[in-house]
Amino acid sequence: METILIDKNDLKTAYDEAGRIIRSGGLVAFPTETVYGLGGNALDADASAKIYAAKGRPSDNPLIVHIADREELYPLVREIPDAAEKLMDRFWPGPLTLIFRKTDVVPKETTGGLETVAVRMPSHPVAAEFIRASGVPIAAPSANTSGRPSPTMAEHVVEDLSGRIDMILDGGSVGIGLESTIVDVTGEVPMILRPGYITKAMIEETVGQTDIDPAVRGTDEGVMATGTAPKAPGMKYRHYAPKSPLYIVRGSRQSIERKLIELESQASERGLRAGYILSDDMEAPKGAAKVYRAGARGDEEAIAASLYGILRQCDYDSLDVIYSDDFGLGDSSTLGYAIRNRLMKAAGGHQILCE
Ligand code: TXA
Ligand code: MG
Repeated sequence: METILIDKNDLKTAYDEAGRIIRSGGLVAFPTETVYGLGGNALDADASAKIYAAKGRPSDNPLIVHIADREELYPLVREIPDAAEKLMDRFWPGPLTLIFRKTDVVPKETTGGLETVAVRMPSHPVAAEFIRASGVPIAAPSANTSGRPSPTMAEHVVEDLSGRIDMILDGGSVGIGLESTIVDVTGEVPMILRPGYITKAMIEETVGQTDIDPAVRGTDEGVMATGTAPKAPGMKYRHYAPKSPLYIVRGSRQSIERKLIELESQASERGLRAGYILSDDMEAPKGAAKVYRAGARGDEEAIAASLYGILRQCDYDSLDVIYSDDFGLGDSSTLGYAIRNRLMKAAGGHQILCE
């Protein structure tokens, strides 16, 4: 299959064709404010099956349904809890996905067999225009092959999916760089299933007490194999991992810098090529094979935006081992919590604590 790549400057004339592809059961990758998505008609079981095949994704991992207008939600869900109403009013369109009880309109193939459906209204103008041109809700996972970091530029989508999908809409680099926050609003207390740009603090300001899925908290604490299954099925899979082993080095700035010197000298003694993912102000050890700069220490928005691109780059630089700064990220009420969640998953929970 030949994949048509639509240049940023030609988008306006491409929406009609993109919509036709979707209505005839095809797949179109498109930018959102979080990461690129791989879209198909959410109401067409065959289109969902094609999405799983193109990504090489296990089909028990449900897809998020993307809409452009609030009216599109009503046929998809059985009820809209009060908390959902408040969260939608404040954060839609935007990087927040809500879990509802689904109606029969949504095929089980789209929800990985679950009785619930994840819905989100992206704020990216290209996403909104594309969804409207399609005239149907769009099921879209991140547009990467399963296991790789989510794409933050059209080039990443080309790398992973060229030849396997019908069209890619190039909207340039995305703004946020991490996938949407997922909140389950089907229970009594809202529960965060995947942390993201919309933080726990922002959600609690809107709807009061909110929990975090215990399995996600486990990841934050480095307890990867607690036996607690995450409530978002996708969170259980190994993700984002570069080909070479990755370790997060945690501690104060000075203690990390000292530790990196030690790690580099061990690596060079053993003839290993080590790469370092560092904040801009962190000194790199002499002799480092590769140094990647993610943004100023504590600048969580910059670090979120650069992380996935760096993890991808690591795979091209044939390293034997990668060490990452902990970036001085914040607690569970900040964007830093989402960054650490993704980093910990990429590192398979491996950290080096130094003091
Ligand atoms: O920012 C995003 O959310 C991006 C863009 C493209 O919108 N999409 C995205 O989709 O990250 P994906 O498929 O890569 O991740 C969807 C996550 C998975 O962890 C999945 O298990 C969870 O959402 N999910 C989907 N439906 C669910 C449901 N009904 N109940 C619980 N978790 C669900
Ligand atoms: Mg994904």
